Amino acid sequence: MTAATDIAAPSLLDLVGDTPLLRLKSIEAKAGTGAEVWAKCEFANPGGSVKDRAARQMILDALAAGLLTPDKTLIDSTSGNTGVAYSMIGAALGVPITLVMPANVSAARKHITTAYGTTIIYSSELEGSDGAIRMVRKIVAEDPARWYFPDQYSNPSNPRAHYLGTGPEIWHQTAGRVTHFVAGIGTTGTLMGTGRYFKDHHAHVRVLGMQPDDALHGLEGLKHLPSSIIPAIWAPDGVVDDTIWMPTDEGWDVSEHLVRDEGLFVGHSSGGNVAAALRVARAAGPGDVVVTILCDRGDRYFAPLAWDRKNVY
Ligand SMILES: Cc1ncc(COP(=O)(O)O)c(C=O)c1O
Repeated sequence: MTAATDIAAPSLLDLVGDTPLLRLKSIEAKAGTGAEVWAKCEFANPGGSVKDRAARQMILDALAAGLLTPDKTLIDSTSGNTGVAYSMIGAALGVPITLVMPANVSAARKHITTAYGTTIIYSSELEGSDGAIRMVRKIVAEDPARWYFPDQYSNPSNPRAHYLGTGPEIWHQTAGRVTHFVAGIGTTGTLMGTGRYFKDHHAHVRVLGMQPDDALHGLEGLKHLPSSIIPAIWAPDGVVDDTIWMPTDEGWDVSEHLVRDEGLFVGHSSGGNVAAALRVARAAGPGDVVVTILCDRGDRYFAPLAWDRKNVY
């Protein structure tokens, strides 16, 4: 990997990916089996999350294919990190962005995305992320010429970002020692793309998906597939070896452990991922190298100061 001080990036987009891989010694100590546990620091991406990778790939692929033309606005449904990532990349490339979000999304999401110049359309807070998906499909169907709809749940560029980036990076950063890859499921892009890379190139690596164990859960960014619209990119056969069902409390407990004992203030999906990695490490042994993802920072879930010219400093 290149040292950060060696990087002279011609574009903000070049700062996406090549994230550090961090060893989690206190998690290894908890497991107590001699297995190693490492995590990709996706919060180090310029938009602050793993979703920078998917948004960059979807936008670049759409520009290259002539699908995203200067007369179009990019629209998608996301209450989460993908919205921040689209907004950042849209601002950097001059692509207008509109996002459909449930009305009850956090103030942090509203303030961060609108600071980049993004327009928000609100869907029913009672229908959650599935309601936002239905609404964006309706808006696009009514005026297809106006919009470019990447549809992160159906777009092969989403997992492709991880097939081309996250997977090979983990392989190189562990010098080919990785034995297990564990990741939670939102759009399923991270797990499908990274998992497919391992199965195509290093098939012995075990690929494990983590899902909240209940439809009503507190692991923001993740989906409980049995009660959700199934993403079209979800094709687990031959890629995903097993599923780990994660209670919200277990993910939150590990998030608290990470901030206090590792100095890692990460979001709750990251806590869920590391909790899943800990379970895998407990059943593994010396020589095993378990890798997971730290999706974003914990402070993303706080309300930032509104970006308001009226403020006097
Ligand atoms: C905080 C957080 N964690 C995890 C995920 C899951 O990633 P993916 O969409 O690649 O499955 C997402 C995105 O959806 C997210 O925003």
